[in-house]
Amino acid sequence: MEYVIELKNVDKEFKVLNRHEGLKGSFQDLFSRDYKIIKAVNNVSMNIKPGEIVGYLGPNGAGKSTTIKMMTGVLQPTRGEILVNGKVPYKNRTANAQNIGVVFGQRSQLWWSLPLIESFKLLKDIYNISDKDYKDMLALYESLVDIKDLYSKPVRQMSLGQRTLSDILAAFLHNPPIVFLDEPTIGLDVSMKAKIRNLIKALNKEKNTTVILTTHDMGDVDALCERIVIIDKGTMLYDNDIEHLRSFFGAYRTLLIKTKKHPEELTDDEKKAELDNVEAIVKEAYADKDFTFSSTDEGWCSILIDESQVRLMKVLNHIQEKIKVYDVRLEEISTESVIRKIYEDAENMKKAN
Ligand SMILES: Nc1ncnc2c1ncn2[C@@H]1O[C@H](COP(=O)(O)OP(=O)(O)O)[C@@H](O)[C@H]1O
Ligand SMILES: [Mg+2]
Repeated sequence: MEYVIELKNVDKEFKVLNRHEGLKGSFQDLFSRDYKIIKAVNNVSMNIKPGEIVGYLGPNGAGKSTTIKMMTGVLQPTRGEILVNGKVPYKNRTANAQNIGVVFGQRSQLWWSLPLIESFKLLKDIYNISDKDYKDMLALYESLVDIKDLYSKPVRQMSLGQRTLSDILAAFLHNPPIVFLDEPTIGLDVSMKAKIRNLIKALNKEKNTTVILTTHDMGDVDALCERIVIIDKGTMLYDNDIEHLRSFFGAYRTLLIKTKKHPEELTDDEKKAELDNVEAIVKEAYADKDFTFSSTDEGWCSILIDESQVRLMKVLNHIQEKIKVYDVRLEEISTESVIRKIYEDAENMKKAN
């Protein structure tokens, strides 16, 4: 089989009630036939090869989890075809379960009050894992992370990081050819994120497991994904190698400037005002060129510049003639800016049509 996952023109629609306001509204809702259709996933197609780590990216509400739920067989597509390991997931849920592992970031799949090792033993029975495979897998886990300390700990006593780690190990335990990870690093601190990323990478390498990972953390993408699929409002915007994406934006660089001595102390409104001011100054001089403006968390103004259109130094000199600049940083284009640019271009394209 060339592909482990095939999606062809997949749609998912949800029928939801149009809610009315207030007490009278709640009574109306009880009897209402006033429904609207939400198209959560719109004509998505992709093929995934064995052993790939694919980053499935998009902002909140883009349709990532809905796609994962269809691939795991929890939801049935409204239209289109999905094959996972050659089978239709929602029609073959038991067979599909043997072929996949799943982690949903916010919710543990493990038994809350059981010590971790007891959860693992239950999974061994459920998935019919042989004694040898089970022992080998635990040995592999022990070589990769300090899991022995967790064996006797019930999930409910674990930190979020320990729980996520345990969930990921549980998902790989029966050595499925495919593992789905829905926002696996959400809410974790920097060092735990690094640990989780290393673990995913090591397991993918060791077992050649195909990994589909949804995230809006660009750190996950940079650390793990060679290929990314970007979705926004249910529609696919991009599907290709991350390298291809970076080279496509090769002429882009980011100029970061500090327009106040302590920009980190600005309120969000003040940050926006600073950025608006910088944007006006730049656009006044280069009305016909494209830029992408944003504020960083620390209150710096960030300008994405296509140097094939205008040199970054010229833009900086122009700004400095107009306002006081306290500090300057240059960055090669980050994955974050690349993705933001793709969303913006899609928006602009829609407006133009
Ligand atoms: N069970 C559901 N019923 C109605 N609407 C839903 C349901 N699940 C998801 N949606 C809607 O579908 C869209 C996509 O949601 P989701 O797939 O969870 O996005 P993501 O995981 O990318 O944040 C959102 O507009 C969400 O509100
Ligand atoms: Mg989601």
